[in-house]
Amino acid sequence: MNGILDGPQTVAVTRGDGIESVHRVAWCVVDDSGRVIEGAGTLDVPVFLRSAAKPFIAAAIVASGAARRFGFDGREIAVMTGSHNGESFHIAAVQSMLDKIGLSEDALRCGPHLPYDDASAQSMLQAGQRPRAIHNNCSGKHAGILAFAAMLGAPIESYLDRNNPAQEEILSFCARVCGVDRSRLTLGVDGCGIPVFAVPLPAGATAFARLATLNNLNDADAQAMRIVRDAMIAYPEYVGGTGEFDTALMRAAGGTVVAKSGAEGVHGMAAIARGAGALLKTIDGNGRAVPPAAMDLARRAKLVYSASLDNLDAFAKPQVRNRGGRVVGRIESLPATDATPYDLLESQARALLDGESDLIANAANIAALAYDEIPDINWAGFYFMGEDGTLVLGPFGGKPACTRLAPGRGVCGAAAARGETLVVDDVRAFADHIACDSASRSEIVVPLFGDGHVRGVLDIDSPSVGRFNETDRRGIEALARAFSEAAYG
Ligand code: SME
Repeated sequence: MNGILDGPQTVAVTRGDGIESVHRVAWCVVDDSGRVIEGAGTLDVPVFLRSAAKPFIAAAIVASGAARRFGFDGREIAVMTGSHNGESFHIAAVQSMLDKIGLSEDALRCGPHLPYDDASAQSMLQAGQRPRAIHNNCSGKHAGILAFAAMLGAPIESYLDRNNPAQEEILSFCARVCGVDRSRLTLGVDGCGIPVFAVPLPAGATAFARLATLNNLNDADAQAMRIVRDAMIAYPEYVGGTGEFDTALMRAAGGTVVAKSGAEGVHGMAAIARGAGALLKTIDGNGRAVPPAAMDLARRAKLVYSASLDNLDAFAKPQVRNRGGRVVGRIESLPATDATPYDLLESQARALLDGESDLIANAANIAALAYDEIPDINWAGFYFMGEDGTLVLGPFGGKPACTRLAPGRGVCGAAAARGETLVVDDVRAFADHIACDSASRSEIVVPLFGDGHVRGVLDIDSPSVGRFNETDRRGIEALARAFSEAAYG
C-alpha cells in the first residue's frame, strides 16, 4: 500500500490581518532523464494527473497519425490538450474536429456542464439553451480520442473504456513519456469518463520535462510532442480561455513555458528555456491554491524569466472578495522552508550549552532542539568518532538509527573524512547513502571539530527532496559550531 501524499509548502488564505486557511503543496522539478532537481513533499506517492495529462494524450493521438489523417490544424490540436472555457471559438474547433471525423456531437459522451466562461454561460442561459457535451471542458480531448478510435477501426461506442485499443495506446504512450512501466500506472476514471492514471510527481514532471526538451523520447514520440508543444504555445487561448491561468501564464512567458492544470489541484509546467519539467499537487485537492503555488514555483525554480511574471499578480496573489465585491483577503504562497529562525535557534542552543560541559547532556539538548524546531525533518542527531574511525550513534531525535557507520561510509562518513559539510539533495542519487529511515529523502551532515580534528558529525534528514538550502546550511553549521565550542573548547 502506498503512503499518503503530503507536502510542506503552504498556500495561505488570508482575511484581514489573519490567516484563515492553508493548503499544503507537494512539488518537484526534474530534468528530462527524470532526475529530481528540487522538490518537497512525498515524491513517491502516485498522483492522478487528471487534465494535466492532456498534452500527452494529445501527443499519443498525434503520434498515431490520427490528427494528420483527419486534417486537424494547430487550434484543434491545442483544444485537444485543453480544459477549455466553452467560449464560441472552442466550440467551433471541437465541432470542426467532429465534422472532419464524420461523427455527431452525440458520440462525445463526456457529460454536459455549463461553459466555465461566465459570459458564455450567461448568454446560453439567457437564450434558454442547455449545456451539451460539446461545452464540457474536455470535449476537444474527446474529439481527439474519437479520431484515434476511428482511425484504428476500434469500436466508437466503447471508446471511453480502458480496454478500447485507442485508450490502451494512449496509456502506453503516457507511461512511456513519464518513464514508467505501463504496469506501474495506478488507474481510475476521470470526471469526463476516460481512463486516468496516477504516477509519482517526478514521473509526471518527467513527461513535462520531455515536452520541454523533446529529449529522451523515441523519434516518433518526440515528433508528436513537438507538434503538441508548439500548438499549445501558438494557441494558448485554446488550452484554457479568457481569464484562465494556463493561458495567461503561457502568453506572459512568450513561448518559454507550456502549462497545464488538472482537477484536484494538479499543475504541470514544461520549462523550455530551463530544460526542465515541474509538477505540483495541492494535498487537499483545492484548485484555488494552484495559481499562487505554480507562480511561486515558476519564480523560485526559474522556470520562466521572472520579469515575465510581473503582470500576473492576479494569479500570484488572487484577491478574496466578499459578496459585496469588497476585497477582504488574498491567497498567497508562503516562503517554503526558509523560515527556520536560525539566529534564534543558535541563541537558544548557546543558552542550553552555557555552563554545562557534559558531552552527552549537551548533545541530547542540541539534537532535541534541532529535531523540534527545524521544520520538515525526520531525524536530527549526532555520530561521534570512535577510535578506529567508526562513527558511533549519539543522542538524536527521530526513529532508531544505525548504531555504527564504518569509516568513510555513508554521507556521514564522507563528510567526516572530507572535514566539510555535505548537503545531499536526493539521497537516492548518492551512491553510498546509508538508509536508516526509508522516509529520508535529503540530508545534511556537518562535521564537528575539536583541536583541529573531526570529532563527529551533526546529521539531519528530511523526507523532502532538496530540503536544505544555503540558509539551512549556514544555520545548521552555526548550531554545530556552538556545540563543538562547548564540547571541545
Ligand atoms: N544516512 C546516513 C546514516 C545515518 S542516518 O541518516 C541517521 C549516511 O548515509 O551516512
